[in-house]
Amino acid sequence: MNRRDFLITTCVAALAPRITLASASFELVAQPVNAQILPEGDPTTPMLGFNGSTPGPVLRARQGDTFDIRFLNQIGEGSAVHWHGMRIENAMDGVPGMTQKVVERGAEFEYSFRAPDAGTFWYHSHNRSWEQVAKGLYGPLIVEERTPPDVDHDLIVMIDDWRVTESGALADGFDNRHDQAHQGRLGNFARALVEPNTPVRRGDRVRLRLINVATDRIFPIKLEGIDGKIVAFDGMPLPNPQGVSNLILAPAQRADIIADVTSADQIAFVFPTRDDPYLLGEIPVEGVNTTRQPSEVPALPPNEQKQPDFDNVVALTLTMQGGAMSRPVSTQTDIWAFNGQSGLTDTPLHRFERDQTARIRLMNDTRFPHGIHLHGHHFFEVGADGSLGAFRDTTLVGAGETRDIVCVFHNPGKWLLHCHMLGHQAAGMKTWVEVA
Ligand code: C2O
Ligand code: CU
Repeated sequence: MNRRDFLITTCVAALAPRITLASASFELVAQPVNAQILPEGDPTTPMLGFNGSTPGPVLRARQGDTFDIRFLNQIGEGSAVHWHGMRIENAMDGVPGMTQKVVERGAEFEYSFRAPDAGTFWYHSHNRSWEQVAKGLYGPLIVEERTPPDVDHDLIVMIDDWRVTESGALADGFDNRHDQAHQGRLGNFARALVEPNTPVRRGDRVRLRLINVATDRIFPIKLEGIDGKIVAFDGMPLPNPQGVSNLILAPAQRADIIADVTSADQIAFVFPTRDDPYLLGEIPVEGVNTTRQPSEVPALPPNEQKQPDFDNVVALTLTMQGGAMSRPVSTQTDIWAFNGQSGLTDTPLHRFERDQTARIRLMNDTRFPHGIHLHGHHFFEVGADGSLGAFRDTTLVGAGETRDIVCVFHNPGKWLLHCHMLGHQAAGMKTWVEVA
């Protein structure tokens, strides 16, 4: 554990959000920033951020409210913002070349969408995402329940890694093909960024909203100093909260945890590595809460879901191919493929009728794990016994593993389906579907 405390600093004051009753209006300015991602005393890192900081500001509204977001692009190259995990209308999905034109340098774009689901989401650039997200273009997007659970603190924990040089700059080589053919761009420095970073008391009940915002790294996470349950994955409540041991977050995945603080010292987020456990971050504990009565961790109120129609199922297979130590995919320029096809094709992988149920077999025929993400929808992970598991937007499929997912394609439009190891996406591991 070789890390001193530091905070993400802002070089420009964040613009205050103007909040009205049922609409949350924000101005989101993408621009260069200097961030103190290395420990205090070490140099700052030139990066990209929103409203002067990376991560960008917390965008927060109540379930059913409308987010009105004016996006201004001042990064000097094209960009666009994707609202990851939000089941919103297609035109607001933020995918250049598919749902909108790229927002050119100096230009702006108005995003407006109603938040159908309560939960923990995030936003990030979807243009050259493997580079722009690695440089810091992301932030948390929180939709509160109409009746939020009773907690003393609601804390966002973003877990990231960066590849930093001796002088504190981000290392170049965002398109490095060796990285892309393996696990992607892995950082040499990792942190859990807690927002807001305030002390809690022993005996407090906390909600922790963990988000893996790294471009490529899968984080197993051990939590110390608390006793509690995972209540949601990828924004969607679990009907039965589950234990926090063996928590693994692939890039883009989230876990909401409700827990009681048991340590008198700190809550720690630990990344167990092969050598030593690596302390990603901590929340200080000061004082004692003597009034809170012990109680079970409650399940969160469910979001709406359409039930799959198992009598009329479209069955598809998506085979992941390519990468290092596998047979090369047929194209000259790409490294990864789905079903023999790299990158986006003119025709979708499949055209669904609206509300059609599909069972998609995800077969990982490569030497690496992949975190497969579907836009505009959540899907059920199917367990080994055939039962429906968590309702997620990103599923981690280990090397050589096969997992079925079941999805009701309820949301009309053109939706990406890609690996959220962004270096893999850059190197061909993406496709799209269309819902009539
Ligand atoms: Cu988190 Cu295609 O995105
Ligand atoms: Cu991948």
